[in-house]
Amino acid sequence: MITKCLFPAAGYGTRFLPATKAMPKEMMPIVNKPLIQYGVEEAIEAGLTDIGVVSGRGKRAIEDHFDISYELEHQIAGTSKEILLDDIRDVINQCTFSYTRQVEMKGLGHAILTGEPLIGDNPFAVLLADDFCTNGTGVLKQMVSLFNEYQCSIVAIEEVPRDQTQNYGVIEGTEIQGGLFKISGMVEKPAPEDAPTNLAIIGRYILTPDIFDIIRNVAPGAGGEIQITDAINEQCKKRMVLGYKFKGRRFDCGSLVGFVEATNYVYGEMNK
Ligand code: G1P
Repeated sequence: MITKCLFPAAGYGTRFLPATKAMPKEMMPIVNKPLIQYGVEEAIEAGLTDIGVVSGRGKRAIEDHFDISYELEHQIAGTSKEILLDDIRDVINQCTFSYTRQVEMKGLGHAILTGEPLIGDNPFAVLLADDFCTNGTGVLKQMVSLFNEYQCSIVAIEEVPRDQTQNYGVIEGTEIQGGLFKISGMVEKPAPEDAPTNLAIIGRYILTPDIFDIIRNVAPGAGGEIQITDAINEQCKKRMVLGYKFKGRRFDCGSLVGFVEATNYVYGEMNK
C-alpha cells in the first residue's frame, strides 16, 4: 500500500529569472494553476494523499498555497468567484502536507534523502513538478497499479531524441512486456555517444525505502551532485527495478519553450 508522495521543491529555478526571484518556480502557473498543484492533484488521483515537500529558503508561498486564506475566503464568500477556489479547497481537504527544508543544494538524490523523515520505512512516489504530465489517466496512477503488481521501484521513461540524452537520466534494460522494461543499468546525463539508449527518465518515480541507505552511500556523480539515478542504478543490481513508458503527454516546464507549450495546450483544452 502506497500513500506518500514526495515533492522535491528546493531548486532555484534560475531559468525563469526574474519571475523566480521572490517566487518559487513550483508556483509558476500553467494558465491559472501552479505547477505544484497539478502535481498534487496527480498524486491524489493515484491515492497518494500524504504529501511531503522538500522545500528551501524562499519557498513559503508553497505552504501558504496549500492552506486556508481566511481573508480571501471571507472576501469572496457568497460571490460568483467562490467557485474559483473549489479545486484547491478539495486538494487541501483530501491531503496532509508535511515539509522539511533542504539547507544545501546537493542534487536530487540528496533532496530525496532529506525527505526521509517525512517518508519513513514506506514505499513512496517522487514527483518533479516541472515535468508536467497530462492527457488521460495520470502517470502516477498508472505507476501505482504497476507497483501493486510488482512491489518494486519503478521509473517513468520516455523516448527522447538522441541529441538530448545529456539532459536526462537514461536507462538500459530488457522489455518484459509492451512498454515495461526490467532495468539493468542507468546513467545520469550521458553525452549522446555514451548513452546506452534513448529511453529517458522523467520526473515520476516510485521507490522502495531501501533507497535511502543506498543514497547515503552513493558518491557524488554528474555535476558533483548526489544523483538519484546513481542510487537507483545500485538498487537495480540488487533487486528488480522497472522502467515504464507512461501513457500521456509530458511538457518540460523547466524550460521556457516547454512551459509556453504547456500553457498553450492547457488553454486550448480549457476552451474546447
Ligand atoms: C532530474 C534527474 C534526471 C531526470 C530528470 C527528469 O534532472 O536527475 O535523471 O531525467 O530530472 O526531468 P534535472 O531535470 O533536475 O536536471
